[in-house]
Amino acid sequence: MVKYKIADESLAEKGLESLYIAENKMPVTVKVIRERFAKEKPLQGIKIAGCLHVTKETANLARTLKAGGAEVYLCGSNPLSTQDDVTAALVKEDINVFAWHGNTDEEFYWCIRQCLKEKPNILIDDGADMIVTAHKEFPELIEDGTIIACQEETTTGVKRFKAMDKQGILKVPLYPVNDARCKNQFDNELGTGQGVVAAIYGMHVLFAGKNVIIAGYGHCSSGMALRARGLGANVIITEVDPIKALQAKFAGYQVMPIADTLSVADIILTATGCKHVIAPTKGMFDKLKDGVILGNLGHFDIEIPTKEIYEHAKEIKPIRKDVEEITFPNGKKVYLLAKGRLANLVLSEGHPAEVMDMSFGLQSLMSEYIVKNKDSLKPGIINVPTEIDDQVGFLKLQSMGVKIDTLTEEQYNYIHGYEEGT
Ligand SMILES: NC(=O)c1ccc[n+]([C@@H]2O[C@H](COP(=O)([O-])OP(=O)(O)OC[C@H]3O[C@@H](n4cnc5c(N)ncnc54)[C@H](O)[C@@H]3O)[C@@H](O)[C@H]2O)c1
Repeated sequence: MVKYKIADESLAEKGLESLYIAENKMPVTVKVIRERFAKEKPLQGIKIAGCLHVTKETANLARTLKAGGAEVYLCGSNPLSTQDDVTAALVKEDINVFAWHGNTDEEFYWCIRQCLKEKPNILIDDGADMIVTAHKEFPELIEDGTIIACQEETTTGVKRFKAMDKQGILKVPLYPVNDARCKNQFDNELGTGQGVVAAIYGMHVLFAGKNVIIAGYGHCSSGMALRARGLGANVIITEVDPIKALQAKFAGYQVMPIADTLSVADIILTATGCKHVIAPTKGMFDKLKDGVILGNLGHFDIEIPTKEIYEHAKEIKPIRKDVEEITFPNGKKVYLLAKGRLANLVLSEGHPAEVMDMSFGLQSLMSEYIVKNKDSLKPGIINVPTEIDDQVGFLKLQSMGVKIDTLTEEQYNYIHGYEEGT
């Protein structure tokens, strides 16, 4: 019997409509892989727990894993990104789900624990909270080999696991799916890139002619900068990495320290994976231009110093769903999107299904790979095999009707050899 705690079961019909819309844009995950999984059942007898943004695309991943024979448990990876119609549809599809929009931090971890109590064999995380909780509170699942291996969906999660691995406390085989080429070069760059539009859309402002500050020039942020520029904004990049800063400069952006941008910034968008990108001081808050829009698209709500902005506020007024007008003691107003949480997921529906098709194609094939190789996996970070990355790439091209060249034997030998030169 399906186990769940969700907001409202009556939203199932609307949720199923959303799943259907996404399904048609996810040929790799939903058609090619799901159809094969349904025949071959490579995940039979396996329990998979996902701590993921519970969106219509994630629901389609869950259905593919289930088609492969897995028993699937889902919880949300961010308190504000869960779509309640989708959770209701998942329950109708007999998928176990513990998630609702707007849960508290305590409820967030309760949902993670419900999934871990089911003794899953594979964990798919987005941000590392579930796998870290497994290490802290369910060590027996790791020690007795119940957890075979884990997968991580986002940059911030991968960073946390690299830190654990360095300290020798990562006790599971961990696949950083985020770092696969089919993931971060598309999901992060195109998805989050387009996410700027989703984030700002409801504010009814033009990008054209605005000073838009993009913090970071990594996968997500470079995509965001490109889209903001495409909409006519004057984009200014802030960075801490000299090479990324140079790339931004040579791509034609202005580059400067964030403190120097605050008095001219109309919109500030962060996606760095760092904390306190705007320093949480009164001096910095005083520099902000009246009316500035502040949005974060990085994983946690600490890039824009949300907590300190609330503490500094004289008045906090919700002006529409998930947007607050904050008046400072000096009378200036700032507009904070999504309480500083992932603005593209909170204010809109997250990445387009077309791009999630590749991320979740990878997550599906990696689940199968883990089961096939379960006897030889060792704790620590292990890269996603190139063959799987390439396979998803080929399937995506195929689904789009795009053909490419194949190396001849002569070409293969040439690029892998050293003897042919001048
Ligand atoms: N919104 C979404 O849907 C979504 C999707 C994917 C990833 N993410 C999250 O977005 C964040 C960024 O991911 P990414 O893949 O782009 O990472 P990335 O490592 O490719 O890029 C981050 C960039 O930020 C720069 N940076 C770090 N600290 C900075 C600071 N204080 N000021 C200015 N720049 C700074 C880094 O030098 C780097 O170039 C992560 O938290 C990731 O988990 C969000």
